[in-house]
Amino acid sequence: MMSGSSEGRFTLIQGPEMDTNRAFRDDVRSGLLARSKRMSCRFLYDDRGSKLFEEICTQPEYYPTRVEASILERVAPKIVSTIDAPPHLIELGSGSAEKTRFLIEALIERHGSLVFEPIDISRAALEESAAGLLEQFPGLIVRAIAAEYITGLELLAQEAGSSESPRLVAWLGSSIGNFERRDAVTFLGALRQSLLPADRILLGIDLRKDAAVLNAAYDDAAGTTGRFIKNLLVRINRELGGNFDLECFRYQARYDEEQGAVEMSLICERPCQVMIPELGLDIHFTAGESIHMEDSYKYSATEIEALARDAGFLVQECWEDDRHYFREVLLEPQPEPGS
Ligand code: TRP
Repeated sequence: MMSGSSEGRFTLIQGPEMDTNRAFRDDVRSGLLARSKRMSCRFLYDDRGSKLFEEICTQPEYYPTRVEASILERVAPKIVSTIDAPPHLIELGSGSAEKTRFLIEALIERHGSLVFEPIDISRAALEESAAGLLEQFPGLIVRAIAAEYITGLELLAQEAGSSESPRLVAWLGSSIGNFERRDAVTFLGALRQSLLPADRILLGIDLRKDAAVLNAAYDDAAGTTGRFIKNLLVRINRELGGNFDLECFRYQARYDEEQGAVEMSLICERPCQVMIPELGLDIHFTAGESIHMEDSYKYSATEIEALARDAGFLVQECWEDDRHYFREVLLEPQPEPGS
């Protein structure tokens, strides 16, 4: 698949085959049997889901990708200058790695070469993005890991100390916002356990802002986000033999100012019956009933400080755009209290 000059600079490790099918079935079953029906965003990103997500990122209303890219384009040299020794660059949920280019470019500019270790659930996304990057950057070595975050974390922990290089772990796109606030602290805390003192995290976080901007961003006029969310029903139909009628469900995004979260749901427009033979389920939906699909939490400056502190990090430096829409945060792991 790789062209001549990229040969030998690409490896792909298939993470331990997580029993995705089993996890998916359990999640769908418990979500649909719950009193308030829900599904987990974890399963949105199959190969088609990853493609649809790339499409979201190009919608005019969906500002986070563009704004984050513009911040990184401007400050990538500053970001990489905060780390002296040449680091390995790791990225959680790299997808197309479109924004990561700016970091890669700045690191290669500064150090001449770079080892990039993208972790993503979609093997197709990893192969595609690596092909482009290797062509563009002759000094680049890509070690891709097809796995979920959790597995990625384990690999980070195993790798710690095995090379002299510190690691810059990029976690962009405000993916942390898709965790509930408490879970975000827990996950970042777990991430810190896998790091050494010289490692850093670069976290991209979407900031709290005007409700109209957020509601538009998560419900684009072209209906891309709706299709992305509905892809989960398509996946249930395909993989579990379900018979969801997509026409029965309407996508809805609503920013809850107090929670600071955009809540994404599918609303059932008329009573319907859905069978999922593989799970032995026969589920009734009443008109107006909703399936809660996903949240996207937004952060204030104070909330970012608290998140970092509670997870055991110090905010070393931050960068944002002129409108204060989005922020890049450089996190330095702090020693365990008492150690
Ligand atoms: N982390 C992104 C966000 O919350 C991902 C995202 C964008 C997303 N649009 C979405 C996730 C729609 C689920 C559904 O902005």
